[in-house]
Amino acid sequence: MPPEKIEIFKSLDGWAEQNLLVHLKPVEKCWQPQDFLPDGSSDGFEEQVKELRERAKEIPDDYFVVLVGDMITEEALPTYQTMINTLDGVRDETGASLTPWAIWTRAWTAEENRHGDLLNKYLYLSGRVDMRQIEKTVQYLIGSGMDPRTENNPYLGFIYTSFQERATFISHGNTARLAKEYGDLKLAQVCGLIASDEKRHETAYTKIVEKLFEVDPDGAVVAFADMMRKKISMPAHLMYDGRDDNLFDNYSAVAQRLGVYTVKDYAAILEFLVGRWEVEKLTGLSGEGRKAQEYVCGLAQRIRRLEERAQAKIKELPRLKFSWIHDREVQL
Ligand SMILES: [Fe+2]
Ligand SMILES: [Fe+2]
Repeated sequence: MPPEKIEIFKSLDGWAEQNLLVHLKPVEKCWQPQDFLPDGSSDGFEEQVKELRERAKEIPDDYFVVLVGDMITEEALPTYQTMINTLDGVRDETGASLTPWAIWTRAWTAEENRHGDLLNKYLYLSGRVDMRQIEKTVQYLIGSGMDPRTENNPYLGFIYTSFQERATFISHGNTARLAKEYGDLKLAQVCGLIASDEKRHETAYTKIVEKLFEVDPDGAVVAFADMMRKKISMPAHLMYDGRDDNLFDNYSAVAQRLGVYTVKDYAAILEFLVGRWEVEKLTGLSGEGRKAQEYVCGLAQRIRRLEERAQAKIKELPRLKFSWIHDREVQL
């Protein structure tokens, strides 16, 4: 990133201190996974586990495939902290740096860490999944990393995280809704809690980008178009369980069919961000800026049209074994 752009982030230090860090929740006010799990140190532990397993029995296998994929995505958190620390001007230079950007990134990571912990322990106790295969997938995934193509550029990085936080807000919200439909209100509460964290994170990241649109509208809109042209790859796109070479696509297909995360959601997120940053109203842009503006403002509609055409052509998808659920078959 050119030095003058790095300067923009340095000049925003005070702003970030005032406007970004307020979206973190103090640890003492945060929920912890243990608040929603059977307490191993209490006499009622076995009874609580039994109840959890009874509730989990009513939930179909395809839902577990999606919940496992979501959990694995959350568990690859080291990758995401690494990714944010590739960004020029905002990275944590020491590991305990006191710039607001570094404080935010560490505390955000610490909040996110609860998501994987909670889902992991729930899934373990449910007795419905092959934990060893799941753990292998997590190890493979962290080993593989990710490439969101944000190129050390915090404009691209924060547009990417804005999109992703909203994507996870939507998908955890949908797993909450489905858990409720299957009658597991406790699991619905767990997914809903995680979704509400994601929403708060979305608010923070979209606020950073909103500020970039204010101080550098041309740079921001060009970055937005650049990121969308590259497509927002999902953080766990390199997942592998040692068996299925198309694991991510197959998991995504089940998530799409169940309505947990779909191409329509992708288009809706894009549309939401265009509105959130008032991209249509930008004036005084350069030629490149105007082209970028036109591109992002029309993109959601184009994605929807392509998706409708693709859907019309799709034949029945096959059933497939997932190692995460002991090789039971699920409809893609
Ligand atoms: Fe999360
Ligand atoms: Fe998140």
